[in-house]
Amino acid sequence: MIRTVVRGYGSCLPEKAVTNKDLESLVETSDEWIVQRTGIRQRYVAGEGETTCSLGAGAGRAALENAGFEPQDIDLIIVATSTPDNTFPAAAVDIQNRLGITQGAAFDVQAVCSGFVFALTTADAYLRTGLAKRALVIGAETFSRLLDWTDRTTCVLFGDGAGALVVEAVESTGTLDDRGVLASKLRSDGCHKNKLYVDGGPSSTQTVGHLRMQGREVFKHAVGMITDVIESVFDATGMNADDIDWFVPHQANKRIIDASARKLGIDPDKVVITVDSYGNTSAASIPLALCDALDAGRIKQGDVVLLEAMGGGFTWGAVLVRW
Ligand code: ACO
Repeated sequence: MIRTVVRGYGSCLPEKAVTNKDLESLVETSDEWIVQRTGIRQRYVAGEGETTCSLGAGAGRAALENAGFEPQDIDLIIVATSTPDNTFPAAAVDIQNRLGITQGAAFDVQAVCSGFVFALTTADAYLRTGLAKRALVIGAETFSRLLDWTDRTTCVLFGDGAGALVVEAVESTGTLDDRGVLASKLRSDGCHKNKLYVDGGPSSTQTVGHLRMQGREVFKHAVGMITDVIESVFDATGMNADDIDWFVPHQANKRIIDASARKLGIDPDKVVITVDSYGNTSAASIPLALCDALDAGRIKQGDVVLLEAMGGGFTWGAVLVRW
């Protein structure tokens, strides 16, 4: 059987970091409130010339280099984003062009903060069924361009950035000791649309719109949905919290992450947290967190890594990978 094995990783951040203190001059807020409620201390915000596609291409280029692959080795690009440069073409096609890739297929996946988990699961399905051999899976966002910068309940939470993985189809014996994606589970339930959405779009208002969120409602659902979907990937593999070497959750809020890890019985030392440095970068948050943990030498080859996300829709999902 075929397994989807991670071969390389890379990230790209905007130049400018914006601290909580910086935001105090913009809206009525405080560093203390933001840190206490979310764990966020700073985030990166895209400046002139920096876009989802420029950041995504930067992350993709870094991941290719890390994997030791050439652009012509890639035959599938999937970009998870809710903030493409244009309504169309897809960010993936723009990034494909920036990377000098002319073969294979490139398309976007839109599942908001769960986007990277959805994109990786989609790439895994393509690779395991022989539709592609080597994929670039990118999470890239510029949420700063969707924010209402007068709304303190949302503008302090998000940041911009991109992260990418190169994955390859590899023949495997199929045991849990083999490297690669071991299991994944995706969920959606559109009845929650009004709790987290953008109030614009090409077919409704012909505007880009602004992010709107009932933060407390999102919080209320998050931990239950996250832990449920993780239990289902545990069920699929027969693994449990003790088998996990690293828990790399979507980085929305430290309180959601801590509560989820506690409920699952995952040791806090195994939890990768980057929300303090990057804020919530939506679909980019998991690959950015992975890059930090890999660069720091925390995640090593052979480790079992649990990825998880939940976001607008709602959408939610989890992936278990042996690195
Ligand atoms: N600075 C200061 N005060 C603020 C700010 C701010 N930036 N934002 C809100 N407040 C005020 C509110 O106005 C309110 O004041 P009031 O009591 O006078 O009305 C008070 O703080 C409490 O507001 P709540 O919304 O009840 O605060 P809560 O403790 O729920 O924290 C937060 C808000 C951080 C948004 C929390 O609900 C949360 O994290 N929710 C999850 C949302 C999330 O993570 N979304 C990301 C996308 S989805 C995902 O990625 C999982």
